[in-house]
Amino acid sequence: MNKQEEKIIRKADWTSPSNIAFIKYWGKCGNQLPSNPSLSMSLKNSTTRTIVSVIESRDKPAFQFFFEGFKESTFDKKIDLFLKNAYNFFPSLQNKSLKIESCNTFPHSAGIASSASAMSSLALCICEIAEEKSSNYLNDAEFYRKASELARLGSGSASRSVYGGFSTWGKTSLLENSSDEWATFLDFDIHPVFSKLNDTILIVSSEPKKISSSEGHQLMNNHPYAKERFKLAHKNLECLLKAFQSGDTEEFIRVIENEALGLHSLMMSSDPAFILVKPHTLEIINRIIDFRKKTGLFLCFTLDAGPNVHLIYPDSIKSKITDIINSELLAFCENRKVIWDEIGEGPVRFTSENVKI
Ligand code: PMV
Repeated sequence: MNKQEEKIIRKADWTSPSNIAFIKYWGKCGNQLPSNPSLSMSLKNSTTRTIVSVIESRDKPAFQFFFEGFKESTFDKKIDLFLKNAYNFFPSLQNKSLKIESCNTFPHSAGIASSASAMSSLALCICEIAEEKSSNYLNDAEFYRKASELARLGSGSASRSVYGGFSTWGKTSLLENSSDEWATFLDFDIHPVFSKLNDTILIVSSEPKKISSSEGHQLMNNHPYAKERFKLAHKNLECLLKAFQSGDTEEFIRVIENEALGLHSLMMSSDPAFILVKPHTLEIINRIIDFRKKTGLFLCFTLDAGPNVHLIYPDSIKSKITDIINSELLAFCENRKVIWDEIGEGPVRFTSENVKI
């Protein structure tokens, strides 16, 4: 059979979001288990769409990966490892040939981590295919839990991206049903001041990171502050959950910024140390703090494992935030690059047979 005659036996097509952590996961143990619980907000516009097709092929088992329409081998090792994990979950997929096509809504070199959206969309596709193949249909809660667990094995933060709104990952006595194995969505009444948060990402640098997240997590194993850090994450989660319920925006800001700066302090005090923030990151942060002092507006920053600054604020003050971004902050962004995002509703499944990316 030649390539033109490739016969698609089964197909799944999912779009899944990136997320921004408010309580950071930094440090892991065992098989991709977190050293502390984390909490994140799923985004709306920064997403990955993945289509997985099971194809009839002579070369079994195999996979081909296409990124934005082109065959791409850079991610082969990661996908290979991910599929090995998937086969443990779903042995019936083991001797199948898979074609995986993926594309992002955000530019590849924008400086946004794509592993959460990529791995969660892939996990959702694999779970759907396995479910259909076995005709063992799960209810929604079970399906997303399975997808979260599988996504986690590809990238820890991806476990949280299978849900919209806010989700947590990691065992905590504060939340029933929380687990180290999979994420759960935050299902309690969140105060309306937090109901429509924006995340505007100021791109300070889109250069690839010199140290990957995996290497950073590893460095927590012998980190002198690890024990205190994991304790603090639990405490910060507790404070954040309380703020979410009471509507205490000052407390929200305190916790979010403490987590962001704490994450980067851990990097700087690792052995070997590494620094991901840039001078412009600090310039932006200082200006945000000054602006907040001056205006009293509900605006705060957080950082991922990189130099780019995420501005978190309610949609109701978007025009004021746009003004300060344009007048003061754009000057510190690489090519004046900004990504406008906001809280999102989570993954979307496409069902049409004819969708193409
Ligand atoms: O999922 P990973 O292995 O890329 O690690 C993500 C780590 C942070 O983004 C820094 C924090 C988090 O909880 O998302």
